Amino acid sequence: MGRRYRIGVIEGDGVGPEVVREALAVLRVAMPDTEFVEIGAGLNYFRRTGKLIEEGALDLIRSLDAVIKGPLTTPPGPGTYRSVNVLIRQALGLYANVRPFRSYRGVSLKEFNFVIVRENTEGLYSGVEGRFRDLAFSVKVATKAGCERVVRFAFNYAVSRGFRRVAAVHKANILKESDGLFREVFHEVAREYPNVEVNEVFVDAAAYNMVRNPQVFQVVVTPNLYGDILSDLAAGLVGSLGLCGSAQVGDGVAVFEPVHGSAPDIAGKGVANPIGEIEAAALMMEYLGGLRGDEALLNASTTLRDVVRGVVEEGRVLTPDVGGSAGTEEVGREVRERLARRLGLRGT
Ligand code: NAI
Repeated sequence: MGRRYRIGVIEGDGVGPEVVREALAVLRVAMPDTEFVEIGAGLNYFRRTGKLIEEGALDLIRSLDAVIKGPLTTPPGPGTYRSVNVLIRQALGLYANVRPFRSYRGVSLKEFNFVIVRENTEGLYSGVEGRFRDLAFSVKVATKAGCERVVRFAFNYAVSRGFRRVAAVHKANILKESDGLFREVFHEVAREYPNVEVNEVFVDAAAYNMVRNPQVFQVVVTPNLYGDILSDLAAGLVGSLGLCGSAQVGDGVAVFEPVHGSAPDIAGKGVANPIGEIEAAALMMEYLGGLRGDEALLNASTTLRDVVRGVVEEGRVLTPDVGGSAGTEEVGREVRERLARRLGLRGT
């Protein structure tokens, strides 16, 4: 019998290979009938080969069921190496970056359960930038089609997951054109969902409210940069960037990664929290299960998220970012072994 799923693997830079290794070990338990296909991309790959991403990688990704990816390093400053993350998102049209944030008892400061749907291909990340003598500019691009697809995605997501409320976060009082268009489209699309409660919040107030009253948020849809910044804020509320995963979804193509970056400050030390990457793997299982009508995989993804919740809330085997003293491998093993037991498998 052939493999049921073909999954691409981009191991990433910095802590990427360490956390991806643990997520793959978990996936081998949860999806044993899977072929994993390595794809070279990122700064380490660039240093080895002079290329940002393996030749033919984008077509390969389109032919695969999904990709699990580690974080990639992008050095700051002009004229250098271009972000491979942005390249992948734009080239594959991964327009919705879905980031669930749910509090953990004993770890998070407050109780909440909300999802940020970040527009992932336009806005200030469009790459329209320039410098002329002492003048520098970065253009914030919004298209009607681009706003519409992500806003509609957010509403459909809310309806399918039982959320009652969708909030648009923008700054249309100042950015009257780009965010103005986003806002207009939001209200237009909202009319198609009369049972969903809508509201809008300026991004500065959203940052404040997210800290003060995170429980009021359910689904938040927002342009690219705001989504990026608010995600890290939300991860701080959860308790660590190392706990949060994300799904980047386009039409018929999806790439899953943790919310965090390559964390060069802790890379190679064996202490990176692998839960964010494992959560990304769980989101991938949920996506594939839904897409293929694979009930077993859907159930396994729910079980995996439940196991992760158990490990984090018990607090016995945790990495230092959430107050523990365990290493990356130990946390990965704990999740994997519990998952195997819950799925009725023996050893791993
Ligand atoms: P970062 O997310 O890598 O790190 C921020 C802080 O969170 C650091 O103190 C780090 O140690 C901690 N942290 C992150 N992941 C952790 C984990 N799994 N366990 C424990 N602690 C963790 O953000 P930073 O330092 O701004 O960016 C580093 C590099 O990552 C940059 O080159 C940036 O461009 C890239 N990046 C890549 C992303 C991606 O591939 N999707 C997303 C964000 C940043």
